[in-house]
Amino acid sequence: MRFAKYIKPYLGFVLAAPVCMVGEVTFDLLQPKLMSKIVDGGVLGGDMQLLVRTGILMLVTIIIGACCGSASAGFSGVASQSFSRDIRNDLFTRVMRLSFQQTDKFTTGSLITRITADVTALQQMLDMLIRNCVRNIIMFTGGIVMMLSLDVSFGTVIAAALPVQAIIVILIMRRANPLYEITAKKLDSVNTVMQENVSGARVVKAYVRERREEQRFDEANMGLADANLRVQKLMAFMSPTLMIIMNMSVLAVIYIGGFRVEAREMQVGEVMAAVTYLTQVLHGVMMLSMMFPMMSRAAASAKRIGEVLSEDTAVKGAENIPETHERGTVVFKNVTFAYPSSSGIPVLSDIDIEIKQGENVAVLGATGSGKSSLVGLIPRFYDADEGEVFVDGVNVREYPLDELRRRVGIVLQKSELFSDTAAGNIRWGKEDATDGEIHAAAELAQADEFISKLPDGYNSMIAEKGASLSGGQKQRMSIARAVVKKPEILIFDDSTSALDLGTEARLRRALAEKLSGTTVITIAQRIASVRDCDRIFVLDHGKIVGSGTHEELLAVCDTYKDICDSQRKTDGGEE
Ligand SMILES: Nc1ncnc2c1ncn2[C@@H]1O[C@H](COP(=O)(O)OP(=O)(O)OP(=O)(O)O)[C@@H](O)[C@H]1O
Ligand SMILES: [Mg+2]
Repeated sequence: MRFAKYIKPYLGFVLAAPVCMVGEVTFDLLQPKLMSKIVDGGVLGGDMQLLVRTGILMLVTIIIGACCGSASAGFSGVASQSFSRDIRNDLFTRVMRLSFQQTDKFTTGSLITRITADVTALQQMLDMLIRNCVRNIIMFTGGIVMMLSLDVSFGTVIAAALPVQAIIVILIMRRANPLYEITAKKLDSVNTVMQENVSGARVVKAYVRERREEQRFDEANMGLADANLRVQKLMAFMSPTLMIIMNMSVLAVIYIGGFRVEAREMQVGEVMAAVTYLTQVLHGVMMLSMMFPMMSRAAASAKRIGEVLSEDTAVKGAENIPETHERGTVVFKNVTFAYPSSSGIPVLSDIDIEIKQGENVAVLGATGSGKSSLVGLIPRFYDADEGEVFVDGVNVREYPLDELRRRVGIVLQKSELFSDTAAGNIRWGKEDATDGEIHAAAELAQADEFISKLPDGYNSMIAEKGASLSGGQKQRMSIARAVVKKPEILIFDDSTSALDLGTEARLRRALAEKLSGTTVITIAQRIASVRDCDRIFVLDHGKIVGSGTHEELLAVCDTYKDICDSQRKTDGGEE
């Protein structure tokens, strides 16, 4: 079983918990017997000494039982909490290793539910199995044995009551089980709506979708409450029904016991003990039956967790760092690529590009033409379907992933920052960067001017997702983060779109001065951002339709000329 390896390190605790539980239940089962002794010998028989002695004995057994009980709870707590912690850890590690396409497949909401709610369900089940399950089974069998030891005729009561109770429980559980599955699904939809809206709160507000979203949440929430209510109604019906059976059986025991006492074959205290044992037996049955839905829920969770854990990393790196004789070069050879989700229609076809060390190239093209997809193949966010991509003269598949991504720095189109200080966010690029390096990178990225004006300068906290910064500030922070890494190849995916032309020009100058040996690949929409590049590749519907300098392209490439013309018009003849 997949989860055995998570239990193994805590096997001692897993075994100790039920052992202690056996202790607790055994002492519990002794209580009614001792009580009957007190009643029969002490109270009715008037033996004061016996009363005191048995009383003390009872107290001692209660204390020992309680100690066993809390030890059992402690052991099981350690076992189940450690077990779930390890699974959560592994899940998180696995989620971090998932490729982009795998994350797309699972969806973020579902991954979060799997790491949290599903793991909790497993943890509760383990706890239940090693404690309650053991407890109820012993209570059940022990109770029957003790009852029969008091008087065999009580067996008839058990024989009559048990099947009736079992049938009722089975009937109700058969109706409740599917309901539990429905509740789990409803909880999923509540989580999804909530997760979407909390992380997209700004968009919701911008489009004044609060009403509609509240309604959507309301629907999901109502669905959850309804499903829960249906389960509760069934349970509300079950408890009193079982109570009636229990009380009728108690009456039967008292009735039979009454005759035996009359005939002087039994004593009053023994009848009392029999009543207590009977309730323990029937209670045990009820509790055992309650475990089935929990088990089916845990089984569903186990399946969902297993799906993530068994997901093979789609993009695997090589073991050893290959020997390279070039530095900062990128080559695409006949590359064709389609997203796994787009049913084979290629977004890039027949791409042939050679970029030399220190070259400053640009990729230009209409929105959706495949620019981000193209550069995403360099650090292996996705793998090319046909053809090969080389970095430093070696196929990207022959690098360990971390080595490849150390050489290639990419500033993604969407700036993602994390809840950390400004310096901490930049340090993502290089863990051991000194303050000097951080400041230099920020200065180069034109981020220093605003970071040093923040209340605590570089130690100011950046809100989650960079919500406390403007779009252009976020972009410059992301650039600083990539620059501090000092990669051989630096890719800017539309990373200056939110900067004004002046800031952008200063950034370009700084890049050219400070990073002269670095190969830079720039994706941009504005001609102004790329016209000074050594070479410009024009992408149209996933194909390279032209390459060369600004002037060369103006002369030969129609697509480039069209883009130029349209921008000249919208910019009011800025050229
Ligand atoms: N994760 C994905 N799964 C499936 N299809 C995708 C995915 N990402 C992008 N695409 C598709 O691939 C095509 C190229 O997208 P890409 O992001 O490379 O364009 P782009 O040139 O960077 O556009 P933009 O200038 O708007 O950023 C688009 O048609 C898009 O719908
Ligand atoms: Mg893009």
